[in-house]
Amino acid sequence: MATGLKLMRAIRVFEFGGPEVLKLQSDVAVPTPKDHQVLIKVHACGVNPVETYIRSGTHKIKPLLPYTPGSDVAGVIEAVGDNASTFKKGDRVFTTSTISGGYAEYALAADHTVYPLPEKLDFKQGAAIGIPYFTAYRALLHSARVKAGESVLVHGASGGVGLAVCQIARAYGLKVLGTAGTGEGQNIVLQNGAHEVFNHREHNYIDKIKKSVGEKGIDVIIEMLANVNLNNDLNLLSRGGRVIVVGSRGPIEINPRDTMTKESSIIGVALYSSTKVQRRFKWTDGSFAPSNPGQCLSKLSEAYEASDLTLGSSMKNLALYTVKAQLWVPAILLQRKSHSGWLRGKKWNFEENKSKTDELKHSFSFIILLE
Ligand SMILES: NC(=O)c1ccc[n+]([C@@H]2O[C@H](COP(=O)([O-])OP(=O)(O)OC[C@H]3O[C@@H](n4cnc5c(N)ncnc54)[C@H](OP(=O)(O)O)[C@@H]3O)[C@@H](O)[C@H]2O)c1
Repeated sequence: MATGLKLMRAIRVFEFGGPEVLKLQSDVAVPTPKDHQVLIKVHACGVNPVETYIRSGTHKIKPLLPYTPGSDVAGVIEAVGDNASTFKKGDRVFTTSTISGGYAEYALAADHTVYPLPEKLDFKQGAAIGIPYFTAYRALLHSARVKAGESVLVHGASGGVGLAVCQIARAYGLKVLGTAGTGEGQNIVLQNGAHEVFNHREHNYIDKIKKSVGEKGIDVIIEMLANVNLNNDLNLLSRGGRVIVVGSRGPIEINPRDTMTKESSIIGVALYSSTKVQRRFKWTDGSFAPSNPGQCLSKLSEAYEASDLTLGSSMKNLALYTVKAQLWVPAILLQRKSHSGWLRGKKWNFEENKSKTDELKHSFSFIILLE
């Protein structure tokens, strides 16, 4: 269906590299939805670690250049293809992936990757659902096959995926333990469903977890930084326990014998391997939802930042400035009403923070807000 729209602003990548390769363009053609596609007027776009891996050129997904990044969009349907009967112009939606890229005023998506945005969620919250929640769900339900009454350690619970895991695990009746690297992070983890929280920057936190879970150990560990933690994880598991590797940034030495004594498993997760059917996990019809999505998701929409190279809170403030320097410059220009964006739940005034930038080069995970 022709849209009558012609040109839009979008952030484009012409070469792989650091955040500086993100360029704002004002003359990008607005795509026309065909067949089962829909065109979404973008109000907010989430930024996940994977967006930065792809941008850097190190990920196995290598889009043809130039391309527009961005998977997790929330907005309003602008137009639909001839066979996209699920949605109509004006519907509020969110996506788990886009065809044309989410860092833009309009994004094309296949209709099976688009979901109605519940009334109680705003667009920022909608843009925080896609990759974090669908990964969390896949890790817990498809990979670990958790059952009510089991225990789960969310190793790295204060980030996008980790908070979603805490919420879903609690909703499914699990005993939830989480870790974070700061006091603030620990509080957020508790507010999002964890029964107990530990600080993964304390040297003896593994001992504290062991003391808490006792001889039996932990049934499931959802691991965000396997290259640091996998060895410890294997020793924390219960008999028949499972470590689900969601994130890892390098190699680690383990003793395979640790899996034999307890007949434990290490299982990797790839969100991109989930089928269309697996992704239809009934987010919107009430059969699955975190206990309080409005409240929970507002935490996620508080945009977390971290480094391309180093995970962790110590980098977060630094990364915040980088985001401003490298990405909010173009992002801000996309905004319609103000010269500010959202960062960690606060309005981030672009002009006021102009000076604090240049030496910091790595950033990701925040929300571009386009309203
Ligand atoms: N396999 C998949 O399909 C898939 C899908 C989505 C994401 N991922 C990956 O999963 C990871 C998390 O993604 P995200 O979006 O949640 O990122 P994020 O929001 O940046 O969160 C990173 C998390 O890692 C924690 N962390 C830092 N140091 C840690 C340590 N030593 N031990 C345990 N956790 C530690 C951070 O805690 P503090 O900041 O409080 O220290 C934070 O909770 C990333 O590596 C991402 O690439 C994989």
